[in-house]
Amino acid sequence: MLFGGKNDQMNIGIIGIGNMGYALSVALSKSKEDTILVYDRGKYKVPKIKNIKRANSLIDLVKSSDTIFVSVKPNDAEKLFDEISLNVEGKTVVSVVALYPYSKMVEKMPKAKICKIMTSIAAETGKAPVLAYCQKELFESLKRLLEKIGEPYLFDEKIIDALVPITGSGPAIVAYFLDSLSQYMLLAGVEKDLAERITNLVTYSTSIYALKKDVDYRTLIKKVATPSGITIKILQEFDKRTLKGNVVDSIYSKIKEYVKL
Ligand SMILES: NC(=O)c1ccc[n+]([C@@H]2O[C@H](COP(=O)([O-])OP(=O)(O)OC[C@H]3O[C@@H](n4cnc5c(N)ncnc54)[C@H](OP(=O)(O)O)[C@@H]3O)[C@@H](O)[C@H]2O)c1
Repeated sequence: MLFGGKNDQMNIGIIGIGNMGYALSVALSKSKEDTILVYDRGKYKVPKIKNIKRANSLIDLVKSSDTIFVSVKPNDAEKLFDEISLNVEGKTVVSVVALYPYSKMVEKMPKAKICKIMTSIAAETGKAPVLAYCQKELFESLKRLLEKIGEPYLFDEKIIDALVPITGSGPAIVAYFLDSLSQYMLLAGVEKDLAERITNLVTYSTSIYALKKDVDYRTLIKKVATPSGITIKILQEFDKRTLKGNVVDSIYSKIKEYVKL
């Protein structure tokens, strides 16, 4: 099967239809010309989308797919890569397994073309960042697919791992901060659902504004925070409580248990 051209039909397999695999299947199914075959060892929900189909077995999926996405937990990936190794010769394996070394995948599947990516469950929207580590040629041939997930970038493996708290954990970390905004609104007497909706609308519109106008965060803050107004007073209070420094330190202190920075 040839890759890259706009009209190349592809058979895509996804192993592990949990949180991440489900999101990937929805995003990748947007190319109606592609067939998405999914498989999970347990009971699993398949999105009701015409070109997504269940595989009868793991080996069926591997044999019928040109490009195989792996979205199982790191401990399961160890065994899975060994299991599929003999059947992936000449095929592309795209792993979304966080912090799993590329060199180990190459060792386990020497005859496959391997790409390590990191993205998040927000890939389901087709708007997530997708960081990839693989040969440039392979990256180029996968671009059409990765663009269904979001915005693909080729990166060093070390950076991809260091950025897992943002690209992979991102939705949870963002939700954590947004929860504090919505908790404030509860104090102001707004009921939870409405508070969360308003928070989401503020975040969504702010992101679109920043992306569309290509405005950096400091400029954006300056546009909102008039001198001696309420915004600047709140931000100064955040600074006094070293909110930003604490956030950076919290992420750094944990990721360095996994990645040498
Ligand atoms: N969740 C996220 O936000 C996120 C973000 C970025 C990257 N990732 C990465 O994505 C991967 C999956 O995470 P997840 O949160 O989606 O996990 P999950 O919800 O637990 O889904 C993994 C699924 O894979 C199944 N599975 C395990 N071994 C299998 C095998 N040999 N054959 C077929 N299916 C198998 C699991 O079945 P059982 O239930 O029986 O174990 C489970 O249903 C992880 O490596 C993680 O690092 C996740």
